[in-house]
Amino acid sequence: MLVLSVNGSPRRHGNTCQMLDRVCRILAKAGAHIDELHLEERELSPCGACMLCAEKQDGKCHGRVDDGNEIIARSQAADVILLGSPVYFGSLTPLIKAYMDRVGFVGRVNGNFLARKIGAAVVPARRAGKLFTFAELNMWFLINGMIVPGSSYWTVGQGREEGEIQQDAEALQTLDLLADNIKWLATKLV
Ligand SMILES: Cc1cc2nc3c(=O)[nH]c(=O)nc-3n(C[C@H](O)[C@H](O)[C@H](O)COP(=O)(O)O)c2cc1C
Repeated sequence: MLVLSVNGSPRRHGNTCQMLDRVCRILAKAGAHIDELHLEERELSPCGACMLCAEKQDGKCHGRVDDGNEIIARSQAADVILLGSPVYFGSLTPLIKAYMDRVGFVGRVNGNFLARKIGAAVVPARRAGKLFTFAELNMWFLINGMIVPGSSYWTVGQGREEGEIQQDAEALQTLDLLADNIKWLATKLV
């Protein structure tokens, strides 16, 4: 099982990263290969709506000269895609939105290559906007025909400064159960 972990926070070691890492550690123990993608370290512009991906249908973006095609290829190769975004002004970050638009559109016009992959989201925030952001990420999985496992609660957590998420015991429990459910689902699908 290949897991692509997409960190949509500009903080390399922030709460989003720590939530993703917790899920990935459990999956790695079960034998999964983890591919970590930290969007802040990459060049990924927003979708330019040129529609060349739909015209050429070769699984690539032709509208931008950046890291998009490498990121698209890594997404296509994954069995599981984890999306993580902190809440910014009640919504997801521009980093993760660029990922979703670029990879999602190329996937949809190239045989829906994301369909039937497993998708799961994690979202930290200081206070409000967690569920809205969580819903935005899950809508992306669903429109792309992906299969979404749950937990005992939505996998969101409370924290402002880097590492504060570790004090949210209930969030950590939900992440552990999410990882278990991904493991179980993967035995059926992968
Ligand atoms: C530009 C910006 C906007 C933010 N907006 C919100 C918000 O609307 N609601 C909230 O609860 N926290 C908000 N936060 C706080 C972050 O969601 C919070 O610190 C989160 O834990 C950061 O995750 P990270 O460490 O992975 O970057 C905002 C932070 C920044 C930098």
